[in-house]
Amino acid sequence: MDFDPRALGEAAPLIIAHYRRCGRMLPWRESPTPYHVWISEIMLQQTRIEAAIPYYHRFLAALPTVAALAAAEEEELLKLWQGLGYYTRARNLKKAAEQVMAEFGGELPSDAALLRKLPGVGDYTAGAIASIAYGRPEPAVDGNVLRVVMRLTGCEADVLQPQTKKAVTEALRAVYPTGADAGALTQGIMELGETVCLPNGAPLCAACPLAELCEARRTDRAEQLPNRSEKKARRIENRTVFRLCCGETIALRKRPARGLLANLWELPNELGTLTEAEARAKYPEALSIEPLPEAKHIFTHVEWHMTGWQVVLPALPPEFTPATQAELRERYAVPNALRAYLPDR
Ligand code: ADE
Repeated sequence: MDFDPRALGEAAPLIIAHYRRCGRMLPWRESPTPYHVWISEIMLQQTRIEAAIPYYHRFLAALPTVAALAAAEEEELLKLWQGLGYYTRARNLKKAAEQVMAEFGGELPSDAALLRKLPGVGDYTAGAIASIAYGRPEPAVDGNVLRVVMRLTGCEADVLQPQTKKAVTEALRAVYPTGADAGALTQGIMELGETVCLPNGAPLCAACPLAELCEARRTDRAEQLPNRSEKKARRIENRTVFRLCCGETIALRKRPARGLLANLWELPNELGTLTEAEARAKYPEALSIEPLPEAKHIFTHVEWHMTGWQVVLPALPPEFTPATQAELRERYAVPNALRAYLPDR
C-alpha cells in the first residue's frame, strides 16, 4: 500500500491530546470496564451514538454483569435489543457471555487474541476492549478510522478491501501507546472520524488537530478520499403484510430460529404484492379489509418493499399468537422493519 506510516506516529499524540480536550462525555466512558466497553462497542457497530445511548442504559440496568447476560432469556434479550437491528449481535453477546463464564470465570480476557475467539468479537471489538478497558496497545479499526488514516496519509487504496484494513491495523499497532493513552487513541481517532473528519462531503478541517499533517488536505483530496469499490446491489423483495385484528388483539408469529430476524415476532406476511381480491380470497371470513400504506425497509443484503392489508376477523386463526397493545410494548420483540404495520401506540 502506498502510504507513509510515519504520519501515524506523528499524529498519535495529537489525537490523544485532542481527545482529552474535546472528547464527548458518553455513558460508557464514565466507567470503562471491559463489560461496559464490550456492550457499547457492539451496540455502536451499526447504530449511531445518540440512538444507542438509551439502549445502553436499559441494557445495563437489566443485565449489569457478564453473569446476568449469560443467564438472560433470549426473549428478554431480543426485547432489550428491539429497534437496534442486526439481532445476531444480541444472540452473540449471550453466547459470548456464557463462554466468558465457562472459560474465564466471568472476566473478559485482556488479550486481543483470546477476545477474538468470542462469538461476535472480531478484530475491531477485540482491539476496542483491549485498548480502552485494559490499556493494551491494540488498534480498533472501523470505517471512521480508515477514513481518517486514508486522508491523513493521502492513500488511494480501496477501504473495502480486507488487505487495506489489515495494513492500516498493522501500521497503527506499530505506533500504539499503552495504558490510558491506548484507550484515548482508540476513542480519539474514532471520534475524529465522527465529529471532524466527516464522510460524504466536506470535512471540518479548520477544527482538525491533524490539519497540518494531512496529506489529503495538502493535495485538496479530502472530499475524494477514501476510495471504495462499488458494493453489490441489494436484492429487492416485494412483501405483503397482514395486520389481522380481532377486538383488541392482532396476530403475531415467531420467525424461524435461523436466518434474517431469527426468533423475532412478526405480523403475518408473504412474498409478492397481493391485491385486495387476493387478500379477500385468503381470508374469506373477513369482516373488513382495508389497505395500509406502503413501506420500505433496507437490510444489508435485501430490501423489503411492503404493502399491507388490515383484515378484521371474527377470530384470529389458531396458528398465530394474539397480542394486545400492552403485550406488543412489553413482551414481544417486533423488528423495526414492520413498525409501519403495527397499530398506533
Ligand atoms: N464509535 C464507536 N465506538 C466509539 C467510541 N468508543 N468512542 C467514540 N466513537 C465511537
